[in-house]
Amino acid sequence: MEIKWSDQLSIDGGLLDEEHKAMIQKTNMFLKMGKTFDSADQARQFLIGLKEHLAIHTAHEEEYLQQIDFPDLQQHSKSHEKLNVEMDALLQLLDRVKFYDLTEINRRTAHFFSHFLVGHFLNEDMKMKAYSAAHRKAQDAEQDPEHDITYI
Ligand SMILES: [Fe+2]
Ligand SMILES: [Fe+2]
Repeated sequence: MEIKWSDQLSIDGGLLDEEHKAMIQKTNMFLKMGKTFDSADQARQFLIGLKEHLAIHTAHEEEYLQQIDFPDLQQHSKSHEKLNVEMDALLQLLDRVKFYDLTEINRRTAHFFSHFLVGHFLNEDMKMKAYSAAHRKAQDAEQDPEHDITYI
């Protein structure tokens, strides 16, 4: 089943949202393919692209977590590391594909999307929402020209 973006999934109203939308697109692309790669080359191209996207996104996200004083930054980083480890395991499996058949890659990729990626997004990334909202509110207040004016 396709995953649809909704405003409820929005975190920063900016870069992170755009990157999350791109990840959802990747997930949907794989689902549309019937959760199967036709060849090892196709799988490799897709998974390498996904790994690169994920590395760029998690770096941006960790930078943002620092900016908004997110309290569980370490735990969140560990969760990102798990995503990365699983991606590496998938790519290593692909290197041995002559000994495996693609069925295992297809199964693990489907599991990566449903369990790891979507799971991380819904269970971990969503925890940022409240901190992001508070951070933006504080920023808006700072930009408000009436801020810091004392009325007598
Ligand atoms: Fe994350
Ligand atoms: Fe994320």
